[in-house]
Amino acid sequence: MKPWKKLLLGLAGIFALTSLAACSSSTNTLDKVKNKGTLTIALNPHFAPFEFKTIQDGKDTIAGADIEIAKAIGDELGVKVKFSEMSFDNVLANVQSGKADIAISGISATKERQKIFDFSDTYYDSETVLLVKKDATEKTYKQISDFSKKSIAVQKGSIQENIAKANLLDANVVSLAQPGEAINELKSGQVEGVVLEKAIAKGYVDQNGDLTMSDIALKSDSNDAYAVAMPKGSDDLKAKVNKIIAKLKKEGKIDSYVQDAYALSLKSSSKSGVTI
Ligand code: ARG
Repeated sequence: MKPWKKLLLGLAGIFALTSLAACSSSTNTLDKVKNKGTLTIALNPHFAPFEFKTIQDGKDTIAGADIEIAKAIGDELGVKVKFSEMSFDNVLANVQSGKADIAISGISATKERQKIFDFSDTYYDSETVLLVKKDATEKTYKQISDFSKKSIAVQKGSIQENIAKANLLDANVVSLAQPGEAINELKSGQVEGVVLEKAIAKGYVDQNGDLTMSDIALKSDSNDAYAVAMPKGSDDLKAKVNKIIAKLKKEGKIDSYVQDAYALSLKSSSKSGVTI
């Protein structure tokens, strides 16, 4: 082979290798996290029992089942976990822009979201319900058509926005930043219902004698179960997270995290009023 051909081939080889390295360093979330020594997690901590604010040992902290999962991931990777708090409609955007490494926030791994993000295996099944005032449900709100032209509140950016629109066809769906705001609007009569996931709605019903879950079933055609969201191309990290989720599920830990967090959330909000 002519020396100039060898040189050309060599150069092509170097070029291929460097572009490969550049490519993998920009997409390998696991290396990025390990190098930093910190895993930054985007979440909206107004979602008990998955993530909520509470006071532990006199200090403001974020607690919940998702927080326990996050800590287990941090332990496995040998890195610190840092919680980055924001409104739910910003949680996934923060992972996309790279401000956060991953998001754990009761996130439903829908098909649309799967186009943009990698998701771990799911760790909790979700069901969506319609919360109403107890007195109203007995008299006025018995079926979907009773909500025609009425206002229904949902959390902004949640799949419940779509579920409410798809099921309560003629209702006016109002998107609010936090579930607690939606609950307050329901209690004060500004809206007639709140569409929320059952595990979260349960806490509000237990703490507010005037609220109840309606019997009206809401259909959803998306994948609603919760999973950890990561940037596309996070194969290495995803494998680790899936291993942890499988272990926690097998040991029955996720259910016990949810139960413990539920008890803690009731205790904390009895001191500070409704959890918002
Ligand atoms: N599961 C719903 C969704 O993914 C709602 C999640 C809201 N999470 C929260 N931490 N506020 O859209």
